[in-house]
Amino acid sequence: MTSRAGSPLPARDAYRLWAPTYGTENPVTALDQVAIEKLTPPLAGLSLLDAGCGTGRRLPDPVPAGPKFVVGIDLVREMLAAGRNQRPDTCLVAGDLEALPITRDTFDVVWCRLPIGHLAAIAPAYRELARIARPGARLIVTDFQPAAIHAGYIRSFRDASGNRCVVEHHVHEPLDHEQAAAGTGLSLEARLDLCVGPEVRQFYKNAEHRALYERQRGLPVVLALRFAR
Ligand SMILES: C[S@@+](CC[C@H](N)C(=O)[O-])C[C@H]1O[C@@H](n2cnc3c(N)ncnc32)[C@H](O)[C@@H]1O
Repeated sequence: MTSRAGSPLPARDAYRLWAPTYGTENPVTALDQVAIEKLTPPLAGLSLLDAGCGTGRRLPDPVPAGPKFVVGIDLVREMLAAGRNQRPDTCLVAGDLEALPITRDTFDVVWCRLPIGHLAAIAPAYRELARIARPGARLIVTDFQPAAIHAGYIRSFRDASGNRCVVEHHVHEPLDHEQAAAGTGLSLEARLDLCVGPEVRQFYKNAEHRALYERQRGLPVVLALRFAR
């Protein structure tokens, strides 16, 4: 698989193209959701930031017993615009994980769901995520498990013309995450390695990739880490 240019597209360019069609679930996004459900504390009365939120599709709807407020931040304005079209009342803000437009000590719960692999260096993002988290906050980070990339997983999509585009991805080992987080004073509370298994079997079946499913069964594809500030 190659991008239109023959090499991976930087995230900013890729998601501009992907924005109009973004949202189809796949094994990675489904396992990301499983991990987040397991690791996120009850949100009632808390503030939630989704950093690298894409269209903001994961942000919970406001309900009386729900979070106090929720905000999504993403680098790509086209992703945010697509999100605003779908859910006009959601607070979506343009910003970079490496320089979040938020004052320190603001959020009780911070999600960072799958953007961090687009960054060559992760320490600046961890510094920012720790800065905007309140003391006692929980930060949940998900990323492609390196084993998935080594097994041939590629971050790719089809643009509006049907061209296959590959998105830039940098492999970060679990220890890289743990060290970058520790460098900001965050402490690791939980780690999950979500594997190909019954939860995502249907994706392979729908794509008529049953043999691939059998080969990849047990392969860790999503790394999920929860830190406390
Ligand atoms: C795989 S998508 C995940 C979106 C969302 N978290 C979800 O689960 O639907 C990765 C997102 O990270 C965003 N992104 C990439 N680099 C970023 C950066 N430096 N700062 C903020 N967002 C970034 C992309 O624009 C894209 O929307």
